[in-house]
Amino acid sequence: MSFPDGFVWGAATAAFQVEGSTTADGRTDSIWDTFCRLPGAIVGGHTGEPAADHYNRVEQDVKLMVDLGLQAYRFSIAWPRVRPDGGRANQAGLDFYGRLVDTLLANGIKPWVTLYHWDLPQALEEKGGWAERDTAFRFADYATTVVESLGDRVTSWTTLNEPWCSSFLGYAAGVHAPGRREPEAAVAAVHHLLLGHGLATSAIRAVQSDAEVGITLNLYPVFPADPESASDVDAARRLDGMQNRMFLDPVLRGEYPADVIEDFRPYGFIENVHEGDLAIISTPLDMLGVNYYSEHNVSTVSDGLVPLRNGRRQSGSPWVGLDQLSFPTRNLPRTDMDWEVQPAGLTKVLRRLHDEYPRLPLYITENGAAYPDAVNGDGGVHDPDRLGFIESHLRAAHDAIEAGVDLRGYFCWSLLDNFEWAEGYAKRFGIVHVDYDTQIRTPKASARWYAKVTRENALVA
Ligand code: NOJ
Repeated sequence: MSFPDGFVWGAATAAFQVEGSTTADGRTDSIWDTFCRLPGAIVGGHTGEPAADHYNRVEQDVKLMVDLGLQAYRFSIAWPRVRPDGGRANQAGLDFYGRLVDTLLANGIKPWVTLYHWDLPQALEEKGGWAERDTAFRFADYATTVVESLGDRVTSWTTLNEPWCSSFLGYAAGVHAPGRREPEAAVAAVHHLLLGHGLATSAIRAVQSDAEVGITLNLYPVFPADPESASDVDAARRLDGMQNRMFLDPVLRGEYPADVIEDFRPYGFIENVHEGDLAIISTPLDMLGVNYYSEHNVSTVSDGLVPLRNGRRQSGSPWVGLDQLSFPTRNLPRTDMDWEVQPAGLTKVLRRLHDEYPRLPLYITENGAAYPDAVNGDGGVHDPDRLGFIESHLRAAHDAIEAGVDLRGYFCWSLLDNFEWAEGYAKRFGIVHVDYDTQIRTPKASARWYAKVTRENALVA
């Protein structure tokens, strides 16, 4: 099963999840540093230290990427390293990313840079964070700083990673930083993140005219558990609205869906949208990144508990306006995050983009799975479930390509085991195992298999 010529094979990480060194070289707190200090916020009380100590291991980690045959490395830049406290540029922070980029290029690996993977400078949160319109403009300034520094070597830019999480998990559910439970702030954050995306897209192009710019969204097929139930059908519509269309439509069509505007009217959503904003938000892009993990099968028959996320009951819900929502268990395999394994959903998501939206080159910027891996007595890590997960999703991606979808690349999540946000270090997504005490890296069986795929540009036995 071969992939098209030029198909990009990569792996992804994010700054706060792998770097560690959270106070080095002038970095200041992000909202995640602060959130980690809140008792009970993170499983095990874990923090951004030591993560995978990537900050001190660039040479070693790029060598790993070479061994895996990666053609591209998707990583993010920490805003609080580059513009500490959201203020002036910090050369020492920029130099770290300059070294990383140089090392990648020297090894023939394309740097694929995400500007915002959730680490807002805490100082900007103190001024209101993403609920505040001004943050969008600060983000564009930060983007300019990065492109001025790296634009002679980096051409692939992603503005935001999964703005749904930044807004609804961070400002409504409170399970992600900054831990607020304010639905009005969450819907304001959606708009300000997207405004920041549009402003940053233009800011990047003002510095680098041939930049390739995109955004990465986490997209899900959403369907009613009981298609005969009017309330399940309506919940699925609302969920599809807030999870998918609320982001896709403004970015790709220049409008918010009418039903989403109505659903969020009680939360003052539309009052955040100023004249001209949607033209900025829909600035044409060069590519769209898709993060795919699972599907949402939704029911309004409540089990009396707040919805399940990451396998744990949380006290806050991201599903603004949907009090009765639940996700009934189906008879499907699940990962260590308790997420259903649903490869066909990836084909559905890709085909929907192809059928319903103006067409753009698509990249799967994340796909992967957590399983409880351990190094065996023989020194290896056998992770057949992860290998099977990636293989089945690559088959699903291939099905989409055969159906005519312009899919150009695949980045597995993640290169390394890392800090899985509210789950701390308990969940392992890496194709490379990290021992957090010794920082020893051990490529798992899935990594060795993936290296064959990247080299053959095909699924091999
Ligand atoms: C999406 C996020 O972008 C990434 O940071 C996270 O670790 C993975 N999903 C797995 O939850």
